[in-house]
Amino acid sequence: MAKVALNFEDGITRFIETAGYETIAEASYRVGINIPLDCADGACGTCKCLSRSGTFDAGDYIDEALTDEEAELGYGLACQMRPQSDMVVDILASSTACKVEVTTYETEITELVFLSSEIVQLKTKIKDGTVITFLPGQYANILVPGSSETRSYSFSSLSDTDEMEFIIRLIPNTGLMSDYLRQAKVGETLSITGPLGSFYSRDITAPTLFFAGGTGIAPFISMLEKLNKEANNTVIKLFYGATTTENIVELQRIQSFENLQVLTYPCVSNEVSDTFASGFVTQWVNKEELKEDSYDIYICGPNAMVEAVKTTLEQQQITFKNFYTEKFIPTGTLTV
Ligand SMILES: Cc1cc2nc3c(=O)[nH]c(=O)nc-3n(C[C@H](O)[C@H](O)[C@H](O)COP(=O)(O)OP(=O)(O)OC[C@H]3O[C@@H](n4cnc5c(N)ncnc54)[C@H](O)[C@@H]3O)c2cc1C
Ligand code: FES
Repeated sequence: MAKVALNFEDGITRFIETAGYETIAEASYRVGINIPLDCADGACGTCKCLSRSGTFDAGDYIDEALTDEEAELGYGLACQMRPQSDMVVDILASSTACKVEVTTYETEITELVFLSSEIVQLKTKIKDGTVITFLPGQYANILVPGSSETRSYSFSSLSDTDEMEFIIRLIPNTGLMSDYLRQAKVGETLSITGPLGSFYSRDITAPTLFFAGGTGIAPFISMLEKLNKEANNTVIKLFYGATTTENIVELQRIQSFENLQVLTYPCVSNEVSDTFASGFVTQWVNKEELKEDSYDIYICGPNAMVEAVKTTLEQQQITFKNFYTEKFIPTGTLTV
């Protein structure tokens, strides 16, 4: 049995499990996910999809349906592909076209911890004990109690439990979710919909750099938790910028992973710190610090920080194999 994450074009992810020697299409249809199919025989190419990680038996097909070049790039035909391991697959259609519904979980707040004067760690538990599965790095939409609006937050915990954790900056003055969280109490109900988003950790195939700005650290904690659980011995460089010393949060958690080496580069921009370097994470984006030929790069945080890192990488001619970003765009709407 293999677990397959299906990522749809609109950022929705659904997980399916293939039984025995099932194809991805067979397993999807069994649970009501109608991925595009026509011939179901490897002849038309309608069900073409892209494997992002994992291995599979590509099955039988003709060149008109899938060329050698496409197969080389990781494309396959869902009606033919039989997973040989857990996989992540991009479906080249929207979730609505495939009649996929995103799940909304009724949860109860179990913990609210102020990690700094303006950053809260929110923990919730799914009331009926259902387990949520997501890819580390993805986010959920939380309905702000007493309103009809949602705000997006990246998971900062491990997938496959009935608990979820988020790291949230309460914006000064007034913000819908920020104001709610300032007075929220353990035991209150939160409606959480997800998982969403295409910012998630892929298999590590190159030296990997994480750039986090502020609470943009949240998805990286989820990714690092997973790598640590898998006893992945990779070395990750984490460049982590915040406004003030107190807003560098969860550093001890990150530095105490037993099965993972995380080289941390924390810095603060709005004050002189006795503990951390001054300035922005871009100070380390140069050939002296980043000597490898090519990197896998992940960036998450406020729009300005993500753009600044992208520009500096370009100016310093740091080359990359894969490049992923998540921008914490205000008002909960992702418009990357
Ligand atoms: C995909 C995604 C993932 C996200 N993940 C996280 C996360 O893990 N942790 C996290 O803390 N945030 C995250 N965010 C941001 C989050 O969704 C909210 O935008 C943020 O918490 C503000 O919500 P609010 O309801 O308190 O303020 P709102 O009611 O949305 O905003 C009130 C006012 O404050 C302004 N404003 C909003 N955000 C900021 C800001 N950061 N600085 C200054 N002014 C601001 C708005 O423009 C508006 O004028 C994420 C956003 C996206 C799109
Ligand atoms: S549906 Fe025709 S190739 Fe898969």
